[in-house]
Amino acid sequence: MSDINMSETPLRLAVLLSGNGSNLQALIDAIESKQLPGVEIVLVVSNNPNAYGLQRALKHALPAIYLPWGQANVPQKTEMSGNETRLTSLLHLFQVDFIVLAGWMRILSAPFLEQFPHRVVNLHPALLPDDGTGSTYTTKDGTEIPVFRGLHAVRQALDAGIKVTGSTIHYVTPEVDAGPVICREEVAIEQGDTEESLHERVKVVEHRLIVEAVRKLNRRDAITEHLPYDKITEH
Ligand code: GRF
Repeated sequence: MSDINMSETPLRLAVLLSGNGSNLQALIDAIESKQLPGVEIVLVVSNNPNAYGLQRALKHALPAIYLPWGQANVPQKTEMSGNETRLTSLLHLFQVDFIVLAGWMRILSAPFLEQFPHRVVNLHPALLPDDGTGSTYTTKDGTEIPVFRGLHAVRQALDAGIKVTGSTIHYVTPEVDAGPVICREEVAIEQGDTEESLHERVKVVEHRLIVEAVRKLNRRDAITEHLPYDKITEH
């Protein structure tokens, strides 16, 4: 992987997804409408052959690959899985600088992530604290709410009866949904919200946030004091 460039060379993104791909679409639209100068999507990977995100990629003539992954598994602490080895080869082949997990439903292992320090980011449909860790988050109005991680964060926020949830773009670390935050925004939970209606509103925010996050990554503004791994100079 090349260093993040401040030069003419475009930042080469890979987007990994498992489903709809509306966040991929947000990035495609931002690039096509020149809101993300110096950024290219060079590869889209899905572990699901039926992911609509693959169709979105193909419609815009982006390389789109179905990478069979099998069932969700618990990643190994010491070595990459065969799937991760194949994914690594693809990422190198396409000379990817940054990896965006946009609805990617597979957990990546520490050995895989260590190959790409500060170069893998994820969208999470809930609010995470600055350094990603901890079990509570304090909203702008000073209310302390639980931190919801994992697959059902939108439903959990709704079930908790709180008034605010949101979206977070964060660096990926081996612990799921627990990496340092790049961008984050609150979303009000309305009376009568269902999981679907709330997730739709969260997604509207996400589509803006992912563009902002990639812009920051390209400008190197996303370096935070909470960055994982100690090799900050590699960023
Ligand atoms: C997003 O809400 C994201 O936060 C979560 O998965 C969803 C993906 O949506 N990780 P889409 O496939 O981009 O529409």
